[in-house]
Amino acid sequence: MKSAFSSAARLSWGLILVVLSSLTAAMGQAPIRFVKTSKIFILDAGKVTYVFGINEQNILQHIYWGGHVGREEDFRTPSTEEWSSFDLSSTTTPQEYPGWGAGLYVEPGVKVTFPDGNRDLVLHYVSHQIAGNTLTVTLKDVQRALLAHLHYTVYPQTGILRREVTIENRTDKAVVLESAQSAAWYLPQGDGYRLRYLTGRWAGEWQLTEEPLHTGMKVLESRRGSTSVQANPWFALDRDGNRDSEDGSVWFGALGWSGSWRISVEQTAQQQVRVTGGFNPFDFGYRLGAGESLTTPPFYAGYTDGGIGEASRILHAFERTEILPRGSGSGTRPVLYNSWYATGFKVDEAGQKALAEKAARMGVERFVVDDGWFGQRNDDHAGLGDWNVNLQKFPNGLAPLIRHVKDLGMDFGLWVEPEMVNPDSNLYRQHPDWVMHFEGRPRTEARNQLVLNLARDDVRDYIFDSLDHLVTVNDISFLKWDYNRNFSEPGWPEVPPEQQKNLWVRYTQNLYDILDELRQKHPRLEIESCAGGGGRVDLGILRRAEQVWPSDNTEALDRLTIQRGFTYAYTPHIMMSWVNDVPDFNRRSAPLQFRFLMAMQGSLGIGADLNRWQPEDLAEAKRMIGHYKSIRDTVQNGLLYRLASPGTGNVSASEYVSENKSQAVLFAFLHSQQFGRTLPAVVLQGLDGNATYALSRLDAKPNEKNSILPLKLSGAYLMEHGLPLLLEGDYDSTAIKFDRTPP
Ligand code: DGJ
Repeated sequence: MKSAFSSAARLSWGLILVVLSSLTAAMGQAPIRFVKTSKIFILDAGKVTYVFGINEQNILQHIYWGGHVGREEDFRTPSTEEWSSFDLSSTTTPQEYPGWGAGLYVEPGVKVTFPDGNRDLVLHYVSHQIAGNTLTVTLKDVQRALLAHLHYTVYPQTGILRREVTIENRTDKAVVLESAQSAAWYLPQGDGYRLRYLTGRWAGEWQLTEEPLHTGMKVLESRRGSTSVQANPWFALDRDGNRDSEDGSVWFGALGWSGSWRISVEQTAQQQVRVTGGFNPFDFGYRLGAGESLTTPPFYAGYTDGGIGEASRILHAFERTEILPRGSGSGTRPVLYNSWYATGFKVDEAGQKALAEKAARMGVERFVVDDGWFGQRNDDHAGLGDWNVNLQKFPNGLAPLIRHVKDLGMDFGLWVEPEMVNPDSNLYRQHPDWVMHFEGRPRTEARNQLVLNLARDDVRDYIFDSLDHLVTVNDISFLKWDYNRNFSEPGWPEVPPEQQKNLWVRYTQNLYDILDELRQKHPRLEIESCAGGGGRVDLGILRRAEQVWPSDNTEALDRLTIQRGFTYAYTPHIMMSWVNDVPDFNRRSAPLQFRFLMAMQGSLGIGADLNRWQPEDLAEAKRMIGHYKSIRDTVQNGLLYRLASPGTGNVSASEYVSENKSQAVLFAFLHSQQFGRTLPAVVLQGLDGNATYALSRLDAKPNEKNSILPLKLSGAYLMEHGLPLLLEGDYDSTAIKFDRTPP
């Protein structure tokens, strides 16, 4: 275990993966293999091996998930395990994807009710197909034509595996799925595991929670219809690791679904450790007609022996290359200005133009008009649903403002909240039946709004057409897609009662369809996923959104904790972070430099009222934005090392290193100095030990004693001796850039 302030040089995981992938390739092994003699499947994903087989009962049985094991003879045909008459073999055998039947007491992959009342489902192996990096194994009930096609994809660059299941009803009658999970992941049997997960609430998202795993089940979930801030569909399990350790085994995963989801983490009486995830079974009851199929959300998971730090970096790289809509072509995010905190709903052409001019002078690259530009939207009581420009505020439409913004050298973005409607809107007056509701029952409002029933195709079409029109007639590069409440009364009275619960799935599928179609028709359009903060961040929405809004809480000290939690699961590339005015949340007033350096650890934005800024503030902002542009590729696309946690002391420090180690940047923050203590040297990680780095300041600190003189240091010195920080007083902050240079 290493403390935050000590480290030895580590090989970058990228290098290790490349070496291992080339080893596998050199040995001529395909990434996915079926060994006929032992009836086992071997999935090699870079430095990770995953193995399961077909046992003597024709049931798919898990064998191994962990570090790379190259010798396939080491794995034997699995066989069922039984402990006592109270624990039938269906429970004690680690079934790769169990149906609920034959005495299964652990979490099932799928649970079904047939029309004759039969609820027993026993899935046996039928066939499989391997195509490059993908494998599909088909299972079928022992009697009935209910099939589960298990899809696997391996990603050798990161060692991530993707699993999802298509459940197919080949009987001649409809069945009801009461649970449809994407995967059951098995960790090595035993105890001593620790579970990490992310919880929160509005303005307090991304709190890392850690607890030991004991016998029983821990449920992480959202029943709210969307991803939620209360829990995020990510988990990590390790054994006896340090808080921010850079070594030790970690198994981790994340679901790609933006509707109600569940991840159940079980430790059985036999110390089987299993993680099952997919659609939330609460109020689930998906009617699958004869001949129909349902595919579960993708469940991605990985393994590393490099500790939780490496687990995060693997996920970050995977998200950037495999999940984000533009993949490895994502480049860097532009510096953004958004007027929400400055003007609220009081947006108009003259005011926005004035802000745009100031923003452009500071080096902002994208100007975004937030809520208030449409319908009768003067506060949050009216207008949602009416996506036409408010002509009192913008008499000539948005075109003159957009032209002005573009002439200033920025692109233009606009806020929308397409899934919602205010009862005080033309849309609701025309279509009161378009919101989700139960017939004759009250409709619960939140923020004076109701949720449109996106499961309905006419609602889906209305939303698509409104947005398509908006981005067709206006030169809009970016939509901030907001969502400010969760479901209530999720009824769909227009379809027969037995179909109504399909809403839980259909809503999100239609949401994805709208986004996909919009993106296809407007390929240059970029999207931010916002849900009153970080309520819709998951690997499903991230296939369709370039960036996300982690929290409405922009107060700099809180944000350090929020952002740190966020990065356990998600890349800083997508993490929007704004500099706002003070006093902010908690009535706290951190200095401007502190606020800037906090926000520069993600994708930088400014949300302050620039009309209130003094010339020296505007000058400092210009300088900081310039600095940010010199490091943003490293911050957004590099390797993150969390050095010191804001939760465990007065100091927060993090380091970003570019993939080729040519640049690094260190950020450190002191909340409040006590007893005149000076801080120990911060020991850096991930640098090239043999290289020399030129140091330069991104803060405004004087270069005096105990500072960063000399201005050149070796990677080895920085990673072994460390760098003293000159942090003192309250709310002090520093940032140092390291550029590889000839010795
Ligand atoms: C909630 C978002 O999180 C804010 O940034 C802002 O866009 C408001 N909605 C606007 O109503």
